[in-house]
Amino acid sequence: MSNIPTPHNSAKQGDFAKTVLMPGDPLRAKYIAETYLEQPRQVTAVRNMLGYTGTYKGKEISVMGAGMGMPSIGIYSYELFHFYDVENIIRIGSAGALQDSLHLMDVVIGMGACTDSNYAYQYGLPGTFAPIADYGLLSRAVEIAKKQGTPVAVGNILSSDVFYNLCPDANDKWRSMGVLAVEMEAAALYMNAARAGKKALCMFTISDHIYRPEALSAADRQLGFSKMMEIALELA
Ligand code: ADE
Repeated sequence: MSNIPTPHNSAKQGDFAKTVLMPGDPLRAKYIAETYLEQPRQVTAVRNMLGYTGTYKGKEISVMGAGMGMPSIGIYSYELFHFYDVENIIRIGSAGALQDSLHLMDVVIGMGACTDSNYAYQYGLPGTFAPIADYGLLSRAVEIAKKQGTPVAVGNILSSDVFYNLCPDANDKWRSMGVLAVEMEAAALYMNAARAGKKALCMFTISDHIYRPEALSAADRQLGFSKMMEIALELA
């Protein structure tokens, strides 16, 4: 395939598994590969956006950083879907809670992704596209979580273009629509998957609460993250 390597990914054809887990932080990708995968090998490191392939319970699986924001995950996921024949991307990230019922370390799955971004402009659609998770991945993730005894909140999340939102009531409005949490990548991933005819799912651990002054300790962050990882690895 003449499109690879790309300006952003130095992996060769066949270097990626059919399923790729994508945390935002490339060092998290390295940690996951070294902690959970058997015989992990690094397949790309362009701009230090590290990617690895190994096996989990005998099945080949990859993990690669996606960076922060929709343009970043947009580039990496587009190339994985279109140039590296990847079929499934599972984002494993963090999100800020918008609802009182959510607490730090809770696991949230994004069934749909609202957005304040103009990412869908590129498709020239005559209306508003609703970015959604793949139902097969979503329903299996919920089943796995149930078996593992991990409660999950499933619903709409917000993919925002801004972390520091200067519009004073923006969060209140999304919260009033029942949106569970805010992050910065899912909508672009869901749209890329839809356009490519591929599958995507986004899950998050709650790392902060927009309406309560709470923050995770390093140990809690790791524990919350591990529970989400266990769901993602079984799913992959
Ligand atoms: N990811 C984790 N917390 C977030 C927040 N408060 N806003 C946007 N993305 C986030």
